[in-house]
Amino acid sequence: MSELTRKAEKLDAGDELAAKRAEFVLDGPEGAVYLDGNSLGALPVAVPGRVADVVGRQWGEMRIRSWTESGWWTAPERIGDRIAPLVGAAAGQIVVGDSTSVNVFKALVGAVRLAQENGPGRDEILVDATTFPTDGYIAGSAARMTGCTLRPVEPSEVPGALGERTAAVLLNHVDYRTGRLHDLPALTAAVHAAGAYAVWDLCHSAGALPVGLDAHGVDLAVGCTYKYLNGGPGSPAYLYVRADLQDRFDSPLPGWNSHAEPFGMRSEYAPAQGAVRGRVGTPDILSMLALEAALEVWDGVTVEAVRAKSLALTDFFLECVGEYVPEGRAECLTPLPHAERGSQVALRCADAGPVMQRLIDRGVVGDFRHPDVLRFGFTPLYVGFADVERAARVLAEELG
Ligand SMILES: Cc1ncc(COP(=O)(O)O)c(C=O)c1O
Repeated sequence: MSELTRKAEKLDAGDELAAKRAEFVLDGPEGAVYLDGNSLGALPVAVPGRVADVVGRQWGEMRIRSWTESGWWTAPERIGDRIAPLVGAAAGQIVVGDSTSVNVFKALVGAVRLAQENGPGRDEILVDATTFPTDGYIAGSAARMTGCTLRPVEPSEVPGALGERTAAVLLNHVDYRTGRLHDLPALTAAVHAAGAYAVWDLCHSAGALPVGLDAHGVDLAVGCTYKYLNGGPGSPAYLYVRADLQDRFDSPLPGWNSHAEPFGMRSEYAPAQGAVRGRVGTPDILSMLALEAALEVWDGVTVEAVRAKSLALTDFFLECVGEYVPEGRAECLTPLPHAERGSQVALRCADAGPVMQRLIDRGVVGDFRHPDVLRFGFTPLYVGFADVERAARVLAEELG
């Protein structure tokens, strides 16, 4: 047994979250290691039974009564309140529904409208220049719609780019490619000092590390639920609108579900109070209730404990890679300081595509991001230290 294998055993023995792994379905080839929870989280054991009940009983037997009697109608707010503590938000500020892309649109246009209502001259949107593409595309459209110019800026350069013309800034908390964690408290404070609004995309941080939306005064935020929240393929995203901004939040997608009186069937729109204002149309109940079941794995778990294990996992992976992988064969793109690291490790090597395919063939599942990045995501609720050691060893064999 190698020293690192022994170390993995010791770390697994002291892991206070180890029992959580049994709450996930991780079937597959013997010894398979799943390091792609930053793309699609694993299936929680509670989900199949819940979905069967929602389809068979709630829909099949209760039919239309389920909108009220099974709590379908209020699911977007109820599940939003379940996500809220995971991102440091008090209840009543998050609604679940639509995709992240659609919520980026609602949040960003809403933010620009808030800024423009405050006074003239706010005609610029700053967007993370390294963003996941959808945010950039939508920011471009939001800019055209609101008469703004779109300026892509590296997140670290945002403070210097802010000015009297800035209306809103759209940033990622963790970079999807490199795993870099951006400084949400400092950047939000800088945006506010310039009189603008901050919109954060939490896709790669929610469920992996503390976000502190309320504590840091974030204005609006969005995130998906199919990564670290394990909601399943295409599970609905969420929108956070800070409580004191809700009355002024003017959604660019005012649907009947966000109307003050949805069943009044009025031709004039009157927005509902509260987070409900972020809703649009009929919620996707099947996906949403699968997500609600998936969120039960968070019972008794703190995000702080998850963060501590996440850092221990990525530290250990970097240690194993340093030990096993020939020097210079792969370059680490993920920052080493904890304060700048999310819950993934990204390694750059010229043949990343074929290397990842060989890893997957051998049961080490990460993913490849164009053109030369190997991504390994570490979900503390179901990844252990022996998994990490094995992944690094197989990686080294394939790179060797
Ligand atoms: C940072 C980020 N934003 C947005 C998205 C896309 O979200 P959706 O497909 O839910 O619209 C992703 C998808 O992986 C992402 O990583």
